[in-house]
Amino acid sequence: MKIFRKKGIDNQSISYLKRELKLKDLIMLGIGACIGTGIFVVTGQASAQYAGPALSVSFVVAALVIILSGLCFAEFASRVPISGGPYGYMYVVFGELSAWFAGWFLICEYMLAVSSVASGWSGYLQGFLGSLGIHLPVALTAGYNPKAGTYIDIIAALVMVFITLWVTQEAKKALQLNNAMVWVKFGIILLFIIVGVFFVKPSNWQPFMPFGAKGIFDGAALVFFAFLGFDAISLAAEEVENPQKDVPRGIILSIFIATVLYIVVTMILTGMVPFEQLGVSDPVAFAMRYVDKGVIGSIISVGAILTLLTVTISMLYSLARLVYSISKDGLLPSILRKVDPKHHTPKNATYVAGGVALFFASAFPLTILAELTNITALSCLIMMSLGILRLRKKMGTPKPNEFSMPFVPFLPIVSVIACLFLMTRLKAVTWIVFAITIVLGLIIYFAYGYKHSHLNEETK
Ligand code: ALA
Repeated sequence: MKIFRKKGIDNQSISYLKRELKLKDLIMLGIGACIGTGIFVVTGQASAQYAGPALSVSFVVAALVIILSGLCFAEFASRVPISGGPYGYMYVVFGELSAWFAGWFLICEYMLAVSSVASGWSGYLQGFLGSLGIHLPVALTAGYNPKAGTYIDIIAALVMVFITLWVTQEAKKALQLNNAMVWVKFGIILLFIIVGVFFVKPSNWQPFMPFGAKGIFDGAALVFFAFLGFDAISLAAEEVENPQKDVPRGIILSIFIATVLYIVVTMILTGMVPFEQLGVSDPVAFAMRYVDKGVIGSIISVGAILTLLTVTISMLYSLARLVYSISKDGLLPSILRKVDPKHHTPKNATYVAGGVALFFASAFPLTILAELTNITALSCLIMMSLGILRLRKKMGTPKPNEFSMPFVPFLPIVSVIACLFLMTRLKAVTWIVFAITIVLGLIIYFAYGYKHSHLNEETK
């Protein structure tokens, strides 16, 4: 069957990029990509509606699941020197149809993550404007929800237009800005911790688990979102000085640092404000306003507004390049691989990705967007875990200089079960949209990709 046709690890796919990244750079990259809307925005809804103060335990559950996936990424990154992340790996181990689906899920994950972060950004900007007494008409403040009187999130839509244009013009400059922003992120999180700790009232932590164990797992399925992006480390494997050692360490350490920060922030947040009141769109800044530290709240808002903007930019950048490379393999229409002659950026891929993200960001509320991001990400991680089992069959156990996931097949199987478990906690509407996504993926592949894949030419 042609749907199982595979790519070899040929010499052309091996990169000759300069190997100069060290462990420290990888941790910065991982943290820079991870920390964003998850902690600054999603924590509010997750604690108010799902887990209460026990949200910190939800973060631990999500971190355990993501570490298992991180180990799978680390083994692939060190043994299969091919670009494209899961999309490239699946082409080698399972063949074209799975590669397409890994690529399709990644496209959806990144696109929805861009929408989510744009939507989170809008929340912070509106909170900040509100603290200055400026309010938008209600209809324009959030996604489509006639009951609440909201129809479109106009700020999320406008920021997507701005970002799409910027990424097609000045992508490299935007990415440099992203690195500097990691420090701003650390700065505002530290500021929150240092000031917030003095306003913690332990009575707010009672009851600790208002929604029971169910709430903790439902919360974990939502805040899983906060860890997405760590795979940026394995995608950079080609540029790492000592990838076999440093990529896995970078992945584990950045997940560890993010987890510690998330737990501390959540504990302080739920200690400062009764959890029922946290369902706002800018909870970290709101908590400061709640304890009459409005100026600190404004500093945090401005910091979040700057950093979330750069997270959106770097995600749209990666998304456009993913669409571009899948189109280069023939699985998506050739129009998407057109490069802007002046700026050397894949402009059509960026416009399409940015346009679809704009639609989702302006029409849907953040929690739905985050859940949809998670379900596509979890599907991709399941494919990666199964991929490790197949990789071991195909290429044997790793050589001494390659990273080896411990306890195979036990851990990859646990990883599949853990991802499936988190998926079962997501809402019915998320599953319906996910089913539509799969059908759409099948239609695109069989109506277009199958016939146009460049592997057709190689077979001939
Ligand atoms: N982990 C990223 C965030 O929380 C997607 O914004």
